[in-house]
Amino acid sequence: MISIVIPTFNEAENIIPLLKNLVELVNDFEYEIIVIDDDSPDGTSDEVNKYMKFNKRIKLITRIGRSGLSSAIKEGLIFAQGKYLLVLDGDGQHHPSFVLEMLEEIKQTKSDIVIGSRFLNSSKLEGLSNKRSLGSKIANKLARISLSKNYMKLTDYLSGCFCLDKETTKKFIRKIEINGFKFLYELLSLSRGKLSVIEVPLLFKERKFGNSKLDIAIVWDFLISIIHNLTLRLLPRRAISFGLVGISGVFVQLFMTSFLVEIFSIDFYNALPFAVISAATSNFLINNQLTFRSDRLKNLALLIGLLKFLIVASLPVIANVGITTAFYKYISADTFIAQIAGIAIVYAWNYLASSSFVWKKSI
Ligand code: GDD
Ligand code: MN
Repeated sequence: MISIVIPTFNEAENIIPLLKNLVELVNDFEYEIIVIDDDSPDGTSDEVNKYMKFNKRIKLITRIGRSGLSSAIKEGLIFAQGKYLLVLDGDGQHHPSFVLEMLEEIKQTKSDIVIGSRFLNSSKLEGLSNKRSLGSKIANKLARISLSKNYMKLTDYLSGCFCLDKETTKKFIRKIEINGFKFLYELLSLSRGKLSVIEVPLLFKERKFGNSKLDIAIVWDFLISIIHNLTLRLLPRRAISFGLVGISGVFVQLFMTSFLVEIFSIDFYNALPFAVISAATSNFLINNQLTFRSDRLKNLALLIGLLKFLIVASLPVIANVGITTAFYKYISADTFIAQIAGIAIVYAWNYLASSSFVWKKSI
């Protein structure tokens, strides 16, 4: 039996033509098609529901509250019954003509994963703008260097179209981190070169209706994943993101002080508090968009969050001086190491306090 898993968000106009196409293709197999829709406001679930009346092999999971692409795929795969699990986009961009070939390949070669690649020589890319195509190429390069060398020859680590052997991949599927878009990358990362993977070329069509859901937060999430993988998955992803945003704050502060001093001729001591508050505010806003986007604060909560963040961040200013002095006095007389120790402790404090006090939910 094969299970076809299709994640959807606002694909009301695309999903039924795709389902019809797929059903025709796989009619001779024992199959199920599972659509995982995040309660799309455009009524995707209603469309699928109507269509299901004619075909009992189509199943629908409607999740309440949007939870994201990777989490939808994971949920669909865990629910699926088939020996082979095939994932493809619900907008018709992955032309279904390759479904049979992918199934054939996974059976013949007994591989654990068959990727539908957009970047083999024989792949056809109709629906990727130059900007996206360049972005995907860079992302694929980063993915390649961060993954096991057994996967070095692959060309599309981020494809949304792939076929899995359930038996050999299920223990990794369970462990997949559900934020963002990068399901396949995560699977390759967690399996550390132990799975056998082959690729078949894909025809990547243009989207007919609606828009892509890929945004800056998803790109950021992917970069964090690369660093997470390169640092042996030791630090929580959010802590990495928080750290990078913190570094950006250093630049904001340096820029603001020189801006106020040079342009407005304000003296340094008066400029400094403004610069520090600007840096903290910029850190707060960026973290709200990127690091804590699943708990994103809005409107009044955003303002209250900012005040809390400023309190959280101001405590360690005093602590930093204390810790650095104590470290210098009692542990090491090296001023550089003393300062690094101070920064490390302040960073840990800021991260832990922000996660539980400003954005609450999880650490
Ligand atoms: N359930 C659910 N929840 N589905 C989602 C969500 C979500 O939050 N976000 C996106 N989807 C569905 C879309 O409805 C579509 O069927 C599929 O996932 C892919 O989303 P698109 O928004 O069309 O992605 P894309 O075409 O820009 O990106 C393609 O390339 C990426 C790599 O560059 C896709 O193939 C991605 O899967 C791939 O990672
Ligand atoms: Mn798409």
